[in-house]
Amino acid sequence: MESALEWHYARAALDWQIDLGVDEAICELPVDRFAAEAEAREARSAPKVAAAPAPGVAPKSDPVADALDEARQRASGADTLDALREALAGYEHCELKRGARNLVFCDGVPGARVMIVGEAPGRDEDIQGKPFVGRAGGLLDRMLEAIGLSRTENVYITNVMPWRPPQNRDPLPAEIAMMQPFLSRHIALADPDVLIITGNIACDALLGRRGITRLRGQWTEAEGRPALPMFHPAYLLRQPHLKREAWADLLELSAKLKATG
Ligand code: URA
Repeated sequence: MESALEWHYARAALDWQIDLGVDEAICELPVDRFAAEAEAREARSAPKVAAAPAPGVAPKSDPVADALDEARQRASGADTLDALREALAGYEHCELKRGARNLVFCDGVPGARVMIVGEAPGRDEDIQGKPFVGRAGGLLDRMLEAIGLSRTENVYITNVMPWRPPQNRDPLPAEIAMMQPFLSRHIALADPDVLIITGNIACDALLGRRGITRLRGQWTEAEGRPALPMFHPAYLLRQPHLKREAWADLLELSAKLKATG
């Protein structure tokens, strides 16, 4: 009798959490998000990179500069998208790699006229090893479809970060900087006519500034190509009233493709 009651209490507690928006049970123990945020703040003020294992080699003096140097060398040495994926897979300086299940490199059609740059993989992307396959990806697909585009036919997709940050925190400035040479090379090799830059992290990596509310909908240039910043689909899921602006930006993209195609 007592255990049946306990079951009902536990069930009611679970229903209550689901009503509050909990949609994932991933840990045996609770996560202290205040502590995680404090840690991220600390890391932001003193960005750390993982030193590459170098048996028998004297420690280098500036790990951040070394990490950037190696990123540049690896990226510039890649002559194809497959080679770039390999170059990223072998890059050991980014801590995020340690906690990720998969490298998330790209989806869609290489060489497509439109290339979308997102932020970083979330849980679903980390599991499947593909960008934008969760809820935000579903919305992105519907947005593209509304103007006759799709990742199976005429869109190529990547992220600034190829590895999922813990608890989906924002990538740190040092982590974005390390990925910049890879992203730049990725764009050169995919060679799109236009870039769609979704959200602030991608604006930071490609335009060197944030402020998506002001930047969105205005054509600019990134990596020598026309680029249109847009609200990130995950942000649109949280702020559905902004879909109106997103629709205007999609029409802008469609007009550009027609005018230049
Ligand atoms: N958000 C992103 O920016 N990229 C993904 O791949 C998924 C969610």
